[in-house]
Amino acid sequence: MTDSPQVVSGPEGIVIAADALRVGQLVALPTETVYGLGADASNPDAVAEIFRVKGRPTNHPLIVHLADASVMGEWAAEVSTEAQALADAFWPGPLTLLVRRAASVGDWVTGGRDTVGLRVPGDENALELLRVFAGGIAAPSANRFGKVSPTSAAHVVADLGSDVAVVLDGGVCAVGVESTIVDVSNEEVVVLRLGGVSVEALADVLGFRPRVEQARAAVGEAVAPGMLAAHYAPAAKVILCSSDEVVAVAVELLSHDAEVEADAPSDGSARVVGVLAPHSLEGLPFEVIELEPAGEGVDYAHALYARLRQADRLGITDLLCIPPLPAGMGAAVLDRLERAAAAG
Ligand code: TXA
Ligand code: MG
Repeated sequence: MTDSPQVVSGPEGIVIAADALRVGQLVALPTETVYGLGADASNPDAVAEIFRVKGRPTNHPLIVHLADASVMGEWAAEVSTEAQALADAFWPGPLTLLVRRAASVGDWVTGGRDTVGLRVPGDENALELLRVFAGGIAAPSANRFGKVSPTSAAHVVADLGSDVAVVLDGGVCAVGVESTIVDVSNEEVVVLRLGGVSVEALADVLGFRPRVEQARAAVGEAVAPGMLAAHYAPAAKVILCSSDEVVAVAVELLSHDAEVEADAPSDGSARVVGVLAPHSLEGLPFEVIELEPAGEGVDYAHALYARLRQADRLGITDLLCIPPLPAGMGAAVLDRLERAAAAG
């Protein structure tokens, strides 16, 4: 086996990727949110390989990606009015629905739960792969457990190397943060993860604002991994601050570093302070690396993971992040920044 995966694209690439799925191999696929690490959802051995490669606990369930909402009934034991309304409104798109699973859906996908996460992705390459493969593709984000999700094929290759057989390159992900997860398996509709569909947009369709219940569990507790308090983390320490505080915080970090050698990063190298903000800033100390401003809302979401990776490439040890305004997609970005910051 070589140490890099086969990177393919276009119609021939899609055929190669579908063939790889059929023989039980892993395929990284582009979606409009982030790249997924896909396997044939009906093949327990192939799905087991996802968990091995990600280093993810096997009781953590996977999302099954479908070509079309019309096959939802093959995976769900029941489709509520709300589930149908949300699927009609947002599929294909960045929304995952948790529904009671059909008897045929294996424990290897659901981690033994009685629900399954379903999503019709809104990326043309993903949809064409699903159509050609003609089955469900189980896929978590194509990163190692706890790390930053990939938003380009190059990110996947850098993270997973030959642990994935085929990477279908569909360019940079349009949305850039993961799907919104909505639990429609009980009477009450509950948002479990903020993401590519805003709560405001869900409310417009449902006619009421659903409760947002974002569990923040400690590592080791048996919950869904994207819901761990510490997740989505780059190597750099992420520190949230406001634009009013940022200059003072940067100055403090740098001066502390000059005075207290022992507090410097443990490998003895100097502290490198970076800043990620919606807009450009004035008055930062010259040593601070200012990443290209991310903009607000959808723009920040689109840029977020690439910027976190860039911070690591630049050797930034402390990344000061000014979040976007917390409305619409800004709320999902703030959520990811808070979880990255919690990773310490
Ligand atoms: O945008 C996305 O959702 C991407 C792309 C590839 O589709 N996928 C993704 O998957 O982010 P993953 O596994 O990294 O995050 C999905 C989250 C996890 O926290 C998982 O545990 C949770 O959804 N999840 C999936 N099925 C579930 C279920 N039946 N019950 C509770 N949580 C579930
Ligand atoms: Mg993930």
